[in-house]
Amino acid sequence: LKIIRARDYKDMSRKAANIISAQIILKNDSVLGLATGSTPIGIYNTLAHWCDKGDLDFSQVKTVNLDEYVGLPAYHDQSYYYFMRENLFKKVNIDINNTHLPDGTAENAEEECERYHNVIESMGGIDLQLLGIGNNGHIGFNEPSDIFETKVHKVELTESTIQANSRLFDSIDDVPRYAYTMGIGEIMSAKQILIVASGKAKAPIVKELIEGPVTPKVPASILKFHGNVTLIADEDAMSLVK
Ligand code: F6R
Repeated sequence: LKIIRARDYKDMSRKAANIISAQIILKNDSVLGLATGSTPIGIYNTLAHWCDKGDLDFSQVKTVNLDEYVGLPAYHDQSYYYFMRENLFKKVNIDINNTHLPDGTAENAEEECERYHNVIESMGGIDLQLLGIGNNGHIGFNEPSDIFETKVHKVELTESTIQANSRLFDSIDDVPRYAYTMGIGEIMSAKQILIVASGKAKAPIVKELIEGPVTPKVPASILKFHGNVTLIADEDAMSLVK
């Protein structure tokens, strides 16, 4: 695990955007694995700005997102499809046909998991996977568990995740209880992984990730078995690390 310390959220965003932009510049048809949530918003803004200036070209880039809520249609303003469109896709010159997320409205969950797994496979693997980290150590929606789930699957979200995500919904009852997520196997198959963390609330889990053992109780800990992972964390997120 390579650790890059950033001053603050802005610095973390700029550093992470640099790694992603280098990937796109070196391989213009890169396959990017993308995340939603609060943490990557500054990264996406920075990439959009560079694209706007003509320094970055997304025209050949392909993307696969980590996850989507079960039950939310693409036009729902809390769906991850909507998030990606608002925060990145509509701001850069990406071909929307090259962007992929699980379909929250799919009728058959098993078929949807299989379909999405095949989408990832058909792209020949992910060049760079961007990850955030949940307060409980989840990556994608791989929640703490007794096992590492390998493939795309449907998960029941934990109370901690529902609680954390309720900030974006009118009431906690509106937060979906299930999601589709890439499995640990698909995430670990990415050639390069970039995980970002910002803020005091993430300090305990960042400490656990860096100093604790590899265990499915802290899904992000598996990243220590990957040969090319960079954690970019700001001072607040690093504040409990010795
Ligand atoms: C989002 C995702 C989640 C988030 C995590 C952190 O696609 O897969 O694992 O990365 O919940 O979220 P924020 O950045 O909102 O703290």
